[in-house]
Amino acid sequence: MDRIALKVNKFYERYPYPSLPIKTERDLISKLHANVMGKILATAGLTTAELSGKDILDAGCGTGEKASYFSYHGAHVTAFDLCSASLVKAKELAEKFKLHVDFSLCDMAEFRTEKRFDHVFCLGALHHTEKPYDNFLALEKLCKPGGTITVGLYNRYGRLGHRAVRTWIGLRAGEDFGKRMEYVENKIYGRKMRSVHEVAYVADKYVHPHESYHTVEEVMGWFEKNGFTYIGAHPKTDAGTRAFLTQLKWMVKGNGFFVMSGRK
Ligand SMILES: C[S@@+](CC[C@H](N)C(=O)[O-])C[C@H]1O[C@@H](n2cnc3c(N)ncnc32)[C@H](O)[C@@H]1O
Repeated sequence: MDRIALKVNKFYERYPYPSLPIKTERDLISKLHANVMGKILATAGLTTAELSGKDILDAGCGTGEKASYFSYHGAHVTAFDLCSASLVKAKELAEKFKLHVDFSLCDMAEFRTEKRFDHVFCLGALHHTEKPYDNFLALEKLCKPGGTITVGLYNRYGRLGHRAVRTWIGLRAGEDFGKRMEYVENKIYGRKMRSVHEVAYVADKYVHPHESYHTVEEVMGWFEKNGFTYIGAHPKTDAGTRAFLTQLKWMVKGNGFFVMSGRK
């Protein structure tokens, strides 16, 4: 594990993400997830009906809600994460709904498999690694020809305001996770966090030790250099100058996270 992965591992062992409160099947497939999952799938031109029988990789699966969601819809799912506390939760969730997911504990930089996948998802994980593009390269190689890759990343423009807040928290509370969380509770929220999910969400946003920032043009470049055709994005965006203008809008609205898909 490199220096960043060590820090990131320590963080997620304490705050496994997203730790959604999924109690019923409805929570898994509709209430908590349907909206966001529908939008993520749409970026790759997919609907839930098309997942059945497909080989899916979820790289940096966290607490496994998305992996279980894919499995519920009939996909053969392989999922890995750097953090064992997240995987304990991910496995519990899959078992609860009698779903099969091939989970493993692994650093993305070291993940190897002979398998090839119809759809590779890496949501919210690359920007917590030391070399996001190198990891993208390793993942894109695991796509079958005609398969898709979907990446979710922090946006350089959309996350600008938030970066200022993170810097301020760093200046006031330092690097210690507990101290940062206490600062956020006292000074930003003015109260204690109310649930495990809220702790996970807020820690991910304000306490995280490492994040990098990316642009639509950059990911378009990743796709082009590696023979992928751009399919779609959420929030929606075009290529070229219009992508820049779209990202300026994201900056104003504070849209810090974007998802893009490409086809091999
Ligand atoms: C923000 S969470 C996203 C979880 C999940 N993909 C989701 O969308 O709900 C980021 C996840 O990436 C994982 N991660 C970060 N760096 C990693 C690495 N080098 N190898 C594998 N997983 C990593 C973390 O452990 C964490 O679970």
